[in-house]
Amino acid sequence: MADVLYFNGRFTTTDERVLGVEDRGFQFGDAVYEVFKFLSRRPIFLPEHYRRMERGLREIEIPSPWSETEFAAVTRELLDRSAFADGIVYVQVSRGEAQRLHFYPEGMKPTVVAYSRRFNFPDAAAKERGIAVITTDDLRWKQCHVKSTNLLANALAKKKAQRAGAVEAIFISEGIVREGGSSSFFAVRDGRVITHPLDEHILPGVVRDQVIGLALAAKIRVDERPLREDELFDLDEAFITSTTMGVMPVTEIDGRIIANSRRGEVTTTLQRLLDELESRA
Ligand code: PDD
Repeated sequence: MADVLYFNGRFTTTDERVLGVEDRGFQFGDAVYEVFKFLSRRPIFLPEHYRRMERGLREIEIPSPWSETEFAAVTRELLDRSAFADGIVYVQVSRGEAQRLHFYPEGMKPTVVAYSRRFNFPDAAAKERGIAVITTDDLRWKQCHVKSTNLLANALAKKKAQRAGAVEAIFISEGIVREGGSSSFFAVRDGRVITHPLDEHILPGVVRDQVIGLALAAKIRVDERPLREDELFDLDEAFITSTTMGVMPVTEIDGRIIANSRRGEVTTTLQRLLDELESRA
C-alpha cells in the first residue's frame, strides 16, 4: 500500500518514482538519514533526531535543506496525512543529483525525502522474551557517528545474524564491543550499566542517550567505557536500544545464554522508564 511521501518540497505517495538514477544517495551512499517513531501521530524525540541529522550533514558538507521549524512543519504535515497513527518516518537527505563523478560539483541542491511506514513495535511478550545476537567483525567505514546511508556492512552483518537464527549482529573491532548493526549495545555487570563512549566508532543513538539519562535519574550507575570482547563472557544482563526496538533484552550471544535467558532487573526497569517517557513525549 502507498504511504505518504514528502519529496523536495511537495507531498505525493510512495507509488511515485521520484529519484533520478544519478542521485548521489543511490550511487555513492552520499546521504544521511534518520528514523524516528510516532505514536498517536506524535513524533518521539524529534528535536534529537533533527539535531543528529544536522550534525551529520555538516560533517559531510551537505547544506541543510531546512531549519528546525521547517523540519517540524514538514513532519507535522506528513503525520497528519498518514493513514495510520503509529509507525516510523524515514528521512533522507542526499547531496543531490548530478552526472556520476566522484568529484561532486559545488553548490548541489540536496534531495530530500521523508515518508511514513507502519511498524510493528515489539509487544510486551517480545520485550520480555528478548533476542539472540551474534558478534561479527566491524567492517564499516571509520566515521560511524555519521548516520550515512552507507549501510552495506550493516546489512551483510545483519543477514549473517539472521542466518544464524539471531536478530542482531554486534560489531567488534580492536577487541572492543562497539554497537549493533542497527542498535546501541549495553551490558550490565554488578548493577552498573556499561556502554561504548561517544566517538567515531558508534552512532550516537537517540534512545541510547535517553536511556543513559533515565538510568542516571534512577540512580543506576552508567559507565560509558569501551567493553572488551572477553567481558561478554561475564555479564549479568545485556540489552540493545534503538528507535524501533526500544530497550530489548539480549538473552543469547553467539549461542551462549545470558542471565539464564531471562530479562534482567535493570533491563526491565529501563524498559519501563523508556515506555513511560515515550508516552509523555
Ligand atoms: N538504526 N547504531 C546504529 C548503527 C543504528 O543504525 C541505529 C539506529 C542505532 C540506534 O539509534 P537510535 O536510538 O537513534 O535509533 C545505533 C535505525 C533505527 C535504522 O537504521 O533503522
